[in-house]
Amino acid sequence: MEEVVKATNITWHQGDIKREDRERANGHQGAVIWFTGLSASGKSTLAHALENALFEKGCKTYVLDGDNIRHGLNKDLGFSPQDREENIRRIGEVAKLFADAGLIVLTAFISPYRSDREKARKLNPKNFIEVYVKCDIDICEQRDPKGLYKKAKAGEIPEFTGISAPYEEPENPEIVIDTGQCSVEQAVNFLLTYLNQQGIIS
Ligand SMILES: Nc1ncnc2c1ncn2[C@@H]1O[C@H](COP(=O)(O)OP(=O)(O)OP(=O)(O)O)[C@@H](O)[C@H]1O
Ligand SMILES: [Mg+2]
Repeated sequence: MEEVVKATNITWHQGDIKREDRERANGHQGAVIWFTGLSASGKSTLAHALENALFEKGCKTYVLDGDNIRHGLNKDLGFSPQDREENIRRIGEVAKLFADAGLIVLTAFISPYRSDREKARKLNPKNFIEVYVKCDIDICEQRDPKGLYKKAKAGEIPEFTGISAPYEEPENPEIVIDTGQCSVEQAVNFLLTYLNQQGIIS
């Protein structure tokens, strides 16, 4: 979809407090931890479990979760390819603001298109961590915590990822977590170690 730019005669106002100042005050770096994967793969579960662990350590965090954002900011968007693209574009922009505010922002969206995830990455060149929450679709279907696969298979939800809409697997994600193989606790420990190694947290 072509980018629509209607804003003209605008000038960026640079504040005195920079991202680095906020990071120093927070005691950790800003970052975008981008969880992607099929519905029921465990994105929300892992994002919130990791947030809990980071919060306990005193980090400033926020989870942008697909369903929650669609309650408000993105309630005007559906699930067509164009609307999915716009959904992810807005999240990439919001994540950029949060990271600029020095937060560790965790996003939990299916984000099925590689090109949309790449755009979010380009918007967030510093500390963008793509986490592919990998899980066999058979396991996702068994879990089906929201009953969505059942509905999709009955033809009640059109354009459902993995059933009637595509999911493009990440080619070079920073991290892959197979939730069919490892527990939530193991995944959180793995992610904390990674953030530590990258110098994002200490
Ligand atoms: N190792 C695991 N990691 C994450 N979730 C797991 C794991 N094992 C079982 N689960 C369960 O799988 C389900 C994952 O649901 P969750 O809502 O996190 O998925 P989601 O990827 O956010 O889906 P959606 O895209 O529909 O929002 C939960 O019921 C969770 O308890
Ligand atoms: Mg979710």
